[in-house]
Amino acid sequence: MMLAIGIVKGIHIIGIALWGAGLIALPLLLARHMSGDQQQEYARVRRFSHYGYTHLLTPAAVLAVAAGTGLIFLREVFVPWMFAKLVLVGGLVALHAAIGTVVVGMGEHTNERQPPHPAFFLLPAITLLGAILLVVLSKPDLGEDLVPNWLHSPREIQLPLDEVPT
Ligand code: HEM
Repeated sequence: MMLAIGIVKGIHIIGIALWGAGLIALPLLLARHMSGDQQQEYARVRRFSHYGYTHLLTPAAVLAVAAGTGLIFLREVFVPWMFAKLVLVGGLVALHAAIGTVVVGMGEHTNERQPPHPAFFLLPAITLLGAILLVVLSKPDLGEDLVPNWLHSPREIQLPLDEVPT
């Protein structure tokens, strides 16, 4: 069991290292799409960012999330800090999708479109990655009152709708 956990955690860390590096590198690479570039140079940079996103960044993200999901059950970490981490990971996934939207946009509008300033993606990427690492490495005791009490138990309230006919 210990060996299995070690292997899955190793896969998780490799996936995260690649994903995190990609979320930092891709905005920098996108900023190299210069509108004044010759078509050939533009196509070269664009192909690199496109394949980087589809063949490295996205598979790394899937690997990291899949291994992380496996770890939740292997290590039975159904604890508040884990859920706080998952909320932050949700932000990282949204950022991943936003970067992907720019990658696609650059391809569909030849070299007319300018990517946003790299800081637009870099700032949230570094903040989220740092915050996740802080949470997962310090495993803070967030207590049970992370959410209001009424969310912990059923309210026994009927929906204001007629019963669905059978
Ligand atoms: C859906 C996404 C993710 C899930 C479900 C997940 C889940 C987990 C679980 C269950 C563990 C084991 C914790 C333990 O052994 O006590 C773990 C370890 C770890 N995770 Fe994640 N994780 C995810 C994403 C991330 C991300 C995005 C990062 C970094 C930015 C990250 C960094 C780490 C690190 C550094 C460890 C090792 C911590 C240790 O062994 O003390 N994880 N993850």
